[in-house]
Amino acid sequence: MADTATLEINGVKHEFPVVTGTENEVAIDISKLRATTKGVITLDSGYKNTGACESAITFLDGEKGILRYRGYSIEELAEKADFLEVAYLLIFGELPTNEQLEKFHSDIKKHSFVDDDVKKILDAFPKAAHPMGVLASLTSALTSFNPSCVNVDSVEEMYNAIVRILGKFPILVAWTMRKKNGLPLYYGDDSLGYVENILKMMFKQPNQDKYIQNPILVNALDKLLILHADHEQNCSTSTVRIVGSSHAGLFASLSAGISALWGPLHGGANQAVLEMLEAIKADGGDTAKYMEKAKDKNDPFRLMGFGHRVYKNFDPRAKIIKKAADDVLSDLGIEDPILDIAKGLEKQALEDKYFVDRKLYPNVDFYSGIIYRGMGIPTDMFTVMFALGRLPGWIAQWREMRMRKEPIGRPRQLYIGETERKFVPVEKR
Ligand code: ACO
Repeated sequence: MADTATLEINGVKHEFPVVTGTENEVAIDISKLRATTKGVITLDSGYKNTGACESAITFLDGEKGILRYRGYSIEELAEKADFLEVAYLLIFGELPTNEQLEKFHSDIKKHSFVDDDVKKILDAFPKAAHPMGVLASLTSALTSFNPSCVNVDSVEEMYNAIVRILGKFPILVAWTMRKKNGLPLYYGDDSLGYVENILKMMFKQPNQDKYIQNPILVNALDKLLILHADHEQNCSTSTVRIVGSSHAGLFASLSAGISALWGPLHGGANQAVLEMLEAIKADGGDTAKYMEKAKDKNDPFRLMGFGHRVYKNFDPRAKIIKKAADDVLSDLGIEDPILDIAKGLEKQALEDKYFVDRKLYPNVDFYSGIIYRGMGIPTDMFTVMFALGRLPGWIAQWREMRMRKEPIGRPRQLYIGETERKFVPVEKR
């Protein structure tokens, strides 16, 4: 591969370095483009061809269906690691030793509370508020309770900020659900593992002395969180990096990421998938009819949970989740007709020319909602669960961006509006 790329504009040639990543991905470094061409920019709506940063956290190859965190395959991590280990790996770059993991967990537990006044903020939301709006607001509100700025050059301060948010965030998640379900707020139990504690915080009933852990649920949630933990420069992660690049604090950057995740084209797809499957069921289960709607360019309907910006072969997370959905429902003895509809849709889509030609495959969200539903989590909480899983990835990406001292994110534009014109007073318009 040549180490420079040549661009010719108006007969003048400009050379740009070609850089190669550790997995042999190739990029043209255009950081001097404007300077050398006197103002020419690139135009790339949706950043489909634009690398926004160099990163050592997650590698994915959408054509081959590969996803690795810090070099470890998602398949191996989902099978052998637990969520806290994966969080440590993503954030700090290496799998923790036993000692490091124990310290990490114990430091997180020291921060597993929020100021009691947060309850007042939560109280002010109507019960019908969407949990993602509540979560984004509460996360942002944490800034007011922890106002000091993190000195990112201090290893200790950075570490403390990380364990603090890893301790507090699950409480916000659990409280968002408890508020929705009309349950009194509960601070959890620090004798439990990270994921076990999350389940207890979400599900413990006020009249229960003891919450009995179901290992099937613990295992399923652990796996789901691992599968969602990072996905390189997606919409919400790029949002976290770009907000953080202005040196806004960690909580503010995370809150922005939560809002970005909410949309149905991104993390909100898991809720949209379940609502779609429900609608198909209510409409008699005619999957062929919905396949036709998805293909009809005059119909805004899209097959939710299908297609992905980068996976053009298969989404490796979807494979793992499909099996987990089967396992969890059969372990819990649940027969969910929605699972059959999902499988029917998948089968038809994989054989349909429209979907095959466009390389549209089920993504991570196609089956995750079915598992969450089996676990007793309300549909509009699904994206909140995604945010819980994505938290370590957002933290890792924010930390990397700050430690690399990346400049403020500020894209350019190609202006297509009016050229200069004279102001006309209101009485003459
Ligand atoms: N159903 C029907 N057609 C689809 C779908 C779908 N789910 N997804 C893409 N297409 C079609 C488009 O209409 C387009 O067709 P055309 O070439 O004839 O115009 C073609 O496939 C390419 O689609 P784009 O929208 O250009 O692809 P893009 O990379 O911009 O979008 C996205 C990716 C947003 C994920 C899209 O596939 C989609 O909307 N999927 C449904 C929502 C979803 O599941 N989102 C979750 C993604 S995973 C995540 O964020 C965690």
